Amino acid sequence: MSRQAYLPDLIRFNLTGGLELLGNLGEALHEGRISTQSRITRLVRLKLEGDRAADPSASSSPPLCRPVAIVTGANSGCGFELTKALLQAGYHVVLACRSATAAEAALDRLRQQTDLDDQMEFMELDLASLASVQNFCTEIRRRFPAPVSSTASGPGQGQGGALQLLVNNAGIMNTPYARTEDGFESQFGVNHVGHFVLTMNLLDLLEESSPNGRIINISSNAHMGVSRLNLTAWEDPQQYNSMLNYGLSKLANLLFTRSLHERLVARRAASPRRGHVTVNAVHPGPIATDLYRYTPLLNKLAPLLRAVMLTPAQGALTMVYMALSSDVKDVSGQYYAALHPRFSSDLGADMQAAQQLWDYTVKKLKSTNIPVRNLD
Ligand SMILES: NC(=O)c1ccc[n+]([C@@H]2O[C@H](COP(=O)([O-])OP(=O)(O)OC[C@H]3O[C@@H](n4cnc5c(N)ncnc54)[C@H](OP(=O)(O)O)[C@@H]3O)[C@@H](O)[C@H]2O)c1
Repeated sequence: MSRQAYLPDLIRFNLTGGLELLGNLGEALHEGRISTQSRITRLVRLKLEGDRAADPSASSSPPLCRPVAIVTGANSGCGFELTKALLQAGYHVVLACRSATAAEAALDRLRQQTDLDDQMEFMELDLASLASVQNFCTEIRRRFPAPVSSTASGPGQGQGGALQLLVNNAGIMNTPYARTEDGFESQFGVNHVGHFVLTMNLLDLLEESSPNGRIINISSNAHMGVSRLNLTAWEDPQQYNSMLNYGLSKLANLLFTRSLHERLVARRAASPRRGHVTVNAVHPGPIATDLYRYTPLLNKLAPLLRAVMLTPAQGALTMVYMALSSDVKDVSGQYYAALHPRFSSDLGADMQAAQQLWDYTVKKLKSTNIPVRNLD
């Protein structure tokens, strides 16, 4: 596709972002920003109350019996804020980060802010390396094996450390052209392929570990700037447009969510003893985070834009809701933003495109030597 043909998509892309910033300004003026923390606190409290009602002995459970959550890219931005809320809601959280230094700094800040040291740990995960993803999954399986007595109606009874939540949050945006260790265009490789392999390799563990597992994929309204699933934009460096390839990778997060939901339903129908795992996509909103480090114009305008962008905690709010709330216990295959289900673009709901992406990803993965589980 020529640069000219990209132009309408770029216009759509910028319009979507601009309109959203204006919408935020309106919302900020209308609601004020003070309520975010109290909303998160309320979601945490409701989750704790629900857990206590379901199992009165839960609050006295030893730390090893805590449900386990994995958050990718937990060291900064929304991932950090989500991690804090999950700790407060009683999860043992694995901070899945690529940099040990950044993760240790995040752990220090979390210790200061929560005093829940024994509930958090760092495990290395570089989504730009499928070998790293593979090692991470092996280590998670070793550390948190499925409870021996697991059944869909009551896994984990009397046992602990069971995986219940996977949040595919890490991401890069608008990066200069590069390839991952396995040869994928980097935004596609990190944002989609790495998370695809991570999720598929942990899927059976999630199903066996909890009657109600949840997967949350962090997508973006940036997917709306993409008018077609242009697979060659991931192959041909000449076609690389850093913003549109970001939009494509976020479209991939959404289409993966749609496909995975259908597969989870089919897997459960074939084997009802499996736990009920839901998968949803979230758009956190335009947030002032490090994600903009490769977008110099936005970085320069940052002081102005901060007035209309969300804080990381505000960006994390819908993630916290999708992770903790009993309201969405059975919701799956959906796209959420600002605490509500949202329409995606038509393409973001197109199951043929979702299948095409799935087939393409699996075909490309076959050319790597990385084994991927649960593809049938
Ligand atoms: N900010 C927004 O306006 C916005 C809007 C819509 C959607 N989102 C989505 O929200 C999610 C979180 O972004 P954010 O805004 O919170 O940005 P952020 O603060 O930059 O967080 C991104 C995280 O991803 C990690 N990461 C990047 N490459 C990685 C890799 N190869 N392996 C493992 N981790 C990696 C980063 O680690 P390092 O610190 O080591 O780089 C960082 O922890 C992303 O998926 C993003 O696409 C953001």
